[in-house]
Amino acid sequence: MQTQSQSQSQAPLPAQDGHVTADGRQIGGVMMEMKNITLRFGGVVAIKDISFDIRQGEIRAIIGPNGAGKSSMLNVISGFYHPQEGEVWFKGYRRGPMKPYEVARLGIARTFQNIALFDGMSVLDNIMTGRLNRMKSGFLAQALWWGPAEREENLNREAVEKIIDFLEIQNIRKTPVGRLPYGLKKRVELARALAAEPQLLLLDEPMAGMNVEEKEDMSRFILDVNDEFGTTIALIEHDMGVVMDLSDRVVVMDYGRKIGDGTPDEVRSNQDVIDAYLGVAHD
Ligand SMILES: Nc1ncnc2c1ncn2[C@@H]1O[C@H](COP(=O)(O)OP(=O)(O)O)[C@@H](O)[C@H]1O
Ligand SMILES: [Mg+2]
Repeated sequence: MQTQSQSQSQAPLPAQDGHVTADGRQIGGVMMEMKNITLRFGGVVAIKDISFDIRQGEIRAIIGPNGAGKSSMLNVISGFYHPQEGEVWFKGYRRGPMKPYEVARLGIARTFQNIALFDGMSVLDNIMTGRLNRMKSGFLAQALWWGPAEREENLNREAVEKIIDFLEIQNIRKTPVGRLPYGLKKRVELARALAAEPQLLLLDEPMAGMNVEEKEDMSRFILDVNDEFGTTIALIEHDMGVVMDLSDRVVVMDYGRKIGDGTPDEVRSNQDVIDAYLGVAHD
């Protein structure tokens, strides 16, 4: 990494493997490392030679104007897009091209910028789909309710009920998702991602389109997930107040490039970031 330009360097961090934040949270070693990632769609360069890492236990924000390449980056992390150049490292291993379900099995779960739930299904059943990757019994055994399948089903139900309690959505567990207001749909999407018990949770604009109260609720849940389950979180968010409150470190993207990387205070005072992003109004 020594040869990279300053704007591509990693955020300064303590040399030791892990540290404790000012608010007492434990940050560990590097969990995910993106090295010189370039992603093209035909002639469009969505991501240009970007490197950054995500540490165990941290909340890492990705910010930048529309079209900057943020969702594309999340899609590279989740295995949905394969970069033409660069390397993706997860927990010390270089990841080859993988199918999204293989990435999910590694312990990575995500929510989408545009809600992707089954409208006609209940909240409970939507959240259950988040556990599909974890189910071992075959479909036939599941359908016929035999032995191991029944035990597995019960365990899955228990795990899902725990998440429903945690996110305070008991009262809507039987409601079809299509009938819910937007803010609650976003919460159900978070619940479904959590049902996979991920080690790394990817959130693409979890608070977009929410009112102030809904944003506060979602912020609190994100912090609680990180705190209680120790889940590492990477999130894309436009509201700078939210980013400042939630994140340990921030990557700033603009036109597919990385123009800043550091603590919220560091990126807020970075002139490149101010010029490209913070100086202009959003939303
Ligand atoms: N599947 C795709 N096919 C073609 N172009 C894409 C695709 N996904 C993203 N892009 C392009 O890549 C660029 C970055 O998009 P995106 O990652 O969605 O940005 P952001 O999430 O920061 O708004 C845009 O120019 C967008 O049009
Ligand atoms: Mg996006």
